[in-house]
Amino acid sequence: MEYIINLTPPEKDTAETLVLPVAGKKLAQGLSKLDSATSGVLSALVANGEPGEKAGSILSTHVTLDGKLRRVVLVQTGETADVASLRLAASAAAKAVIAGKATSTGVHLLLVAGKTLGIETAAAIVAQAFVFEGYRFDQFKSKKEPVATLTNVNITVSKKADQDAAQAGLQQGLAIGHGVNFTRDLGNAPGNVCTPTYLATQAQALGKAAKIKVDVLEAADMEKLGMGSFLAVAKGSIEPPKLITLEYKGGKGKPVVLVGKGITFDSGGISLKPGDSMDEMKYDMCGAATVLGVFKAVTELKLPINLVGVIATCENMPAGNAYKPGDILTSMSGQTIEVLNTDAEGRLVLCDALTYAAKYEPETIIDIATLTGACVIALGHIATGLYANDEKLAEQLLAAAGTSGDKAWRMPLWDDYQEQLKSNFADMANIGGRPGGSITAAVFLSRFVKDVNWAHLDIAGTAWKSGAAKGATGRPVPMLVEFLNQRAAKTAKKK
Ligand code: BES
Ligand code: MN
Ligand code: ZN
Repeated sequence: MEYIINLTPPEKDTAETLVLPVAGKKLAQGLSKLDSATSGVLSALVANGEPGEKAGSILSTHVTLDGKLRRVVLVQTGETADVASLRLAASAAAKAVIAGKATSTGVHLLLVAGKTLGIETAAAIVAQAFVFEGYRFDQFKSKKEPVATLTNVNITVSKKADQDAAQAGLQQGLAIGHGVNFTRDLGNAPGNVCTPTYLATQAQALGKAAKIKVDVLEAADMEKLGMGSFLAVAKGSIEPPKLITLEYKGGKGKPVVLVGKGITFDSGGISLKPGDSMDEMKYDMCGAATVLGVFKAVTELKLPINLVGVIATCENMPAGNAYKPGDILTSMSGQTIEVLNTDAEGRLVLCDALTYAAKYEPETIIDIATLTGACVIALGHIATGLYANDEKLAEQLLAAAGTSGDKAWRMPLWDDYQEQLKSNFADMANIGGRPGGSITAAVFLSRFVKDVNWAHLDIAGTAWKSGAAKGATGRPVPMLVEFLNQRAAKTAKKK
């Protein structure tokens, strides 16, 4: 697919489908010549209440231009198109264009930029929407649905001075879109294909393409490091566990380390899960997939930052040699853990990965994990649960969540919750009972990140969708890339 920024005014655009913004009750400014060329049909439609008042409402129709029938998609951006409205408008428009099987489209959504949001942001939103909506996962269907025929997306700006900003935005949007779709591919791949070994191979391939250092530690290496907690979870599976590290050096200073939970299938282990929706536990590696998606985007953008990825990946299976409730594990940190439920395995692999992460002398550690069903109860499928032991870091992540539209909501880490993890036999138990289940998982992790700025993202509710639209969402790649972007912009300013 080719994306181009150009200056062609809408009335001269020869693309097969034109995407035209409607701002409130008016056609966007800049469309008046096109409107005259259609004998006022466009403005008449809008006067008639099309395409509807809500941002993202669309009308796909045909108009006659120079005696020829042309497809247009009218899309409501809201009166003063803000970021959220433009996101809705862009994805609805992209969906309609792709469903309409156009081969080329001219997107004039940028006509509404400049009032409350910049050209760069607007271009990024449009590009990201087209990449996201063009995603298909049909590798495993013997009869593929016809592939999207769209090959050209022309994003139009109205003046030359805006071209550079639009181009920069385009790159941003494409990179985030590519990162998100990579994460979706990994998440959607079934557990019998997407094993820990598969994730390691994918990381190595990414490392090769993007020229970054990728290392894979095997069980024997982890044994030497004393990762008794991680290895206990891995024990019951015939798939060998892997600890994958990625190192991207694009700038100066201490790195941000992203730690991903990579359970390629979570059966619950001996504390076996019920059968309903158990297939969805193939998604329990979406934290790991997020780390890889962020690396894809960051390397594509060549951000001037230092970034490390640590992925702890294994299966959680019941077996004769699997770990059991009552077992006491010694983590790499030396702290001991009584296993009260083998289904609370995420924190057991993450605690050793967090301890290992210290080796990179991180400026910040952020772990990403489909950690608790309780987080889904607390926040539903809308917001990622955000925990942080540092105010500034929390603020920056929340800001990134806001601008990227990839919502997060802060949750507490108060010591009061530590009580619930008391064990009679070890330093701590691996579960804290039903009350505040997402929080007790987070405070468990906090015991392994004592002297470093750390945030934990519980993405159990946001990493994938169930039901008719079942599939990985690629979240929270947009939020994390935006966060790293902001960081890159700040260090650039300091210079
Ligand atoms: N991977 C699950 C969390 C999960 C559950 C994510 C449902 C998305 C949807 C995690 O390993 C788990 O099983 N957590 C348990 C913890 C409990 C045993 C304390 C849970 O949430 O039920
Ligand atoms: Mn589990
Ligand atoms: Zn799990």
